[in-house]
Amino acid sequence: MSKLPDVGTTIFTVMSRRATEQGAVNVGQGFPDYPIDPDLAACVSDAVRAGFNQYAPMEGNVALRAAIAAKIASGGGRPVDPETELTISCGGTESIYSAIQALVGAGDEAIVFDPAYDAYDPAIRLAGGRCIHIPLEAPHFRYDWERVRRALTGRTRMIIINNPHNPATSVATAEDLDTLAELTRDRPFTVLADEVYEHVLYDGRVHQSVMNHAELGARSFAVYSFGKTLHITGWRVGYCVAPPGLTRELRKVHQFNAFSIAAPLQEAIRLYLQRHPDAWRSVGKFFSAKRDLLRAQLADSGLVMPPAQGSYFQLADYSAVADCDDVEFTERLINEAGVAVIPLSPFYREPPARMRIVRLCVAKRDETLAEAGRRISAYTRSRAGQGRSA
Ligand SMILES: Cc1ncc(COP(=O)(O)O)c(C=O)c1O
Repeated sequence: MSKLPDVGTTIFTVMSRRATEQGAVNVGQGFPDYPIDPDLAACVSDAVRAGFNQYAPMEGNVALRAAIAAKIASGGGRPVDPETELTISCGGTESIYSAIQALVGAGDEAIVFDPAYDAYDPAIRLAGGRCIHIPLEAPHFRYDWERVRRALTGRTRMIIINNPHNPATSVATAEDLDTLAELTRDRPFTVLADEVYEHVLYDGRVHQSVMNHAELGARSFAVYSFGKTLHITGWRVGYCVAPPGLTRELRKVHQFNAFSIAAPLQEAIRLYLQRHPDAWRSVGKFFSAKRDLLRAQLADSGLVMPPAQGSYFQLADYSAVADCDDVEFTERLINEAGVAVIPLSPFYREPPARMRIVRLCVAKRDETLAEAGRRISAYTRSRAGQGRSA
């Protein structure tokens, strides 16, 4: 008996496991392979020694929530009341899960956009809801709002957007949010905005948060992750910003799901934000240099790479190099080139025919990116030398 009979181990875990087995360079799963700031590591022992070792408040460390509200304000965001509008969660993932359980009920519909981050669909189904998948279309992965309008029914309770987008690497525009606001106007549904890559935008783009949108702010959950912003994906600390009514509902689930988040880690992040209030401001530039390095390394590989607009990732179209499906191509790369990447089709309920795109993670040491680029280029050159066959 299973409530999710079709769900196996995520593609990220599978590919990381395969990378370890094969001794491959791992540019698949989205986690940094470089060390964290030693000052941040020191904050953990400071927090433990200072006695932050018992249950944290259910809503999150009070001073950390105040620090986050101050960070949001200093970045030009709307004033957020940390008491009633901000909840610390177990990574962004738990905020997503708790928000969905809080508002989606049996028979309700929730809309996601494919390629979709893999946490949304199972959470909707565990809530008893129906997950409606609407594709973003390659190569630009833009929203087809007319199609969204047609998909709305009396049962639609939630629309989940992800901005900047994993794995599409696209970024929503102000017009996208205006159209979404127009669609949600006078309808009883909520927006869940997964904004964990809020600071990872490239080429001068500016993040458009639902939180700051005049209409959407009042009916949205916005989800964030210190894992992404401070390069600590393993700490599992994220948060959700939402107006008081939505926050109340979220906390009803959160308190019986995670209850509260690791006390010393919350305090360590608070101390770090106090000591380095501007740490997050350099994140975009940091990843932008890595994206450019990877792209330069692959310039002669035959892979076609529209520059990522945001997120930890860079997509690569390999159709000039091989004509197999993307799962097969990732297998070949791992076995023959010694590089782990992620295929795009598992992010779809119905992958487009002839999907020839894989996802590479740029949140890696420069040496890792250079080595991955060298290995992939050597592999594609050797295939070109042989005259490629499917
Ligand atoms: C789009 C997206 N949302 C949510 C998450 C989860 O964030 P966290 O690790 O903080 O749970 C990730 C992590 O990779 C992600 O890529």
